[in-house]
Amino acid sequence: MKKAKYLVTFLVMAFMLILTACGTSETSGNGSDDSSDEKKTLRVVTDAAYAPFEYQDKGEIVGFDIDLIKAVAKEAGYEIDIAHTGWDPIFVELEKKIADIGISSITINDDRKKTYDFSVPYFLSTNKIMVPEGSPIKSAEDLKDKTVAVQNATTGQEAVEGLLGKNSDQIKKFENNNLAIMELKAGGADAVVADNTVIEEYAKNNPNDKFVIIEDKDAFAQEFYGLMFSKGSKIKADFDKALNEVFDNGTYAKIYNKWFKVDPDVQLLKD
Ligand code: ARG
Repeated sequence: MKKAKYLVTFLVMAFMLILTACGTSETSGNGSDDSSDEKKTLRVVTDAAYAPFEYQDKGEIVGFDIDLIKAVAKEAGYEIDIAHTGWDPIFVELEKKIADIGISSITINDDRKKTYDFSVPYFLSTNKIMVPEGSPIKSAEDLKDKTVAVQNATTGQEAVEGLLGKNSDQIKKFENNNLAIMELKAGGADAVVADNTVIEEYAKNNPNDKFVIIEDKDAFAQEFYGLMFSKGSKIKADFDKALNEVFDNGTYAKIYNKWFKVDPDVQLLKD
């Protein structure tokens, strides 16, 4: 009887040990450990609330960026694990080297280059303004006495700060872009400023919201998206090479066509 009790205790403990082992192996960060040559599964982080680039569909992370990073990682010979962390954590994880790659319609700019490395550019974008049909807003200048919703810590926020002043209380900042759009819908803001493709797609796919898009080339610069890495990342070279491969072998055009129904201007990215 006593023996049986020991056996049960032993089995329970062994089982618990196995469980703990599985748990830790799953959560242990696989950041940028350079100590071995063996290719580890890379942690890719994204803010999957930016359709059509990255969003969630029935619990799955999908989008142009997602197809692209899968193709590029395959080309480079790496396994990846894509996590929806939200926007701000992308920057935190890459700075702390918890993640290996950020792909999230991230604009390459000088400020970010101080802290991160970027791949070659893979997409051309610009900020545009989304307003309700019939809005008096016709240009960026017209935003000056209006309330504008943006996603926090984006180039959209920066551009609007340039127009309204850095501490303007007319700027409403949200953790993700969908919340900014909801604010516009609810009448809490007069406009949303965000990457053109995202708001153009939104306006097109949600005709009942009756939103229109305003372009202002003088106010909003051209931007290029890049994969973002930790400073000094050892994998950047492999991914640049793979990106160029994917540009040249038609894979990029295939993915672009799937999402945007037109052919890309690959040369533009290379110039
Ligand atoms: N391109 C802009 C930037 O880099 C906005 C990107 C936002 N991306 C996202 N997945 N929410 O600041």
